[in-house]
Amino acid sequence: MNKKINIQIPDGAKTIINILKNNGYEAYVVGGCVRDSLLTRDPHDWDITTNCLPEDMLRIFKATHKTIPTGLKHGTITLLDEGIPFEVTTFRLDGEYSDNRRPDNVVFTSSLKEDLSRRDFTINAIAYNGEVGLVDYFGGLQDLQNKLIRCVGEAEARFNEDALRMLRAIRFSAQLGFEMHKDINLALLKLSDNIKNISVERIREEFNKILFSNSDKVSELSSFGLLKHFIPEFEICENTVQNNPYHIFPVAKHILCSVKNVENQLVLKLTMFFHDIGKPQCLTTDNMGVDHFYNHGEKSVNIAEKVLKRMKYDNKTIEKVLLLIKYHDYELKHRKQIKRLLNNIGEENLRDLLKVKVADAKAQNPEFYPVRQLEIIKAEAEIDEIIRTKQCFTLKDLKLDGRDLMQLGITPGKQIGIVLNQLLELVLDDPELNNRKKLEEIVMGTGLLSIHK
Ligand code: CTP
Repeated sequence: MNKKINIQIPDGAKTIINILKNNGYEAYVVGGCVRDSLLTRDPHDWDITTNCLPEDMLRIFKATHKTIPTGLKHGTITLLDEGIPFEVTTFRLDGEYSDNRRPDNVVFTSSLKEDLSRRDFTINAIAYNGEVGLVDYFGGLQDLQNKLIRCVGEAEARFNEDALRMLRAIRFSAQLGFEMHKDINLALLKLSDNIKNISVERIREEFNKILFSNSDKVSELSSFGLLKHFIPEFEICENTVQNNPYHIFPVAKHILCSVKNVENQLVLKLTMFFHDIGKPQCLTTDNMGVDHFYNHGEKSVNIAEKVLKRMKYDNKTIEKVLLLIKYHDYELKHRKQIKRLLNNIGEENLRDLLKVKVADAKAQNPEFYPVRQLEIIKAEAEIDEIIRTKQCFTLKDLKLDGRDLMQLGITPGKQIGIVLNQLLELVLDDPELNNRKKLEEIVMGTGLLSIHK
């Protein structure tokens, strides 16, 4: 026990702990919230552990709290305190894990130590309440101080119980900047294939957290043999060097560097992760020995779509990631190119595309970065100007519409669309032409009318 350390527990958790105590039970906050509090990071939820059985909790809290039987079989109920949810779980020992996923059954116990001993890492196996102080049977506090991820007991046993813990080890080391204990490294090398027993949704959430916190750790996912089970498409990028003056890194390193450079939004992180994944399949080398990757955007879109669907990302995320990948290499040097993109993908996407381009450029040869940066700054100023001066960049901004064209004698149907798009092209080049009379003259005078009649 360590009574010297104080943790600020939210009122809701305090109330629950006190009610349990007044009914003769022990209760503690436990796990991630204790770890994060000790690291002065903001805990995102507060889990409570107690020796009170679930049915007794339901009875005790009936009068004071809304109770939700979240996982009665595993001893967990959720209590709502002024609308804030707290998960309260009975001290338990996990039974057999025949599938490296979840215990076949759990056994409730009256021992806090036993409950803490079934947890994954020492830093996640510390309990606390205001009266007793810290309860840390497995040296979690010291590991926090030493910045070390270490399993409670034997790493292999913990990973055999739940194979997701292998990803969690790398994820925590990414989030917290901690080293992994050598026993974890050995166990990962031995057991990484078991990750195939874990659902893609659980893997996806850990993968996202790694991308958000430290993308370099993706290399560890790969070197420990984990990544190949859910994104085997990445492996070939690690061996693809880019013999090209614009690049200094092999494809994989460039990709991970670009992930790091982009702001913390899932769509942007995923876009960077996949933007060049198709490069290895597009590699050609010219007679000067310079590598090229023509059409890699398209190839990357195909691979990204396959992987993102397989990993069950939501459709909105997939759609936007694919769009940004498709256009990541498009030139934005001229106003017309920018307007065309504004028309194709809209302002919000185009502004995100600029973020993608910055992250991409920063991960290339730094010699060229100032030029690329200037291009992007200019493109941003162009977008501002086009929007501010309400310049025409879509069909609906044209001063002539389909009805007008019909009145000029063009047959209704797809011809109308063709002519309107031809007019838009002309207006993108010369905004002065966006005037009803001038557009009518063009239609009548250039032969557009006779072609499409
Ligand atoms: N736990 C475990 N094995 C797992 C998942 C969780 O032993 N595979 C235990 C750990 O004690 C963990 C606690 O359950 O601290 C709560 O799990 P969870 O909410 O998933 O993680 P946190 O540690 O709270 O961290 P985060 O919320 O950042 O994922």
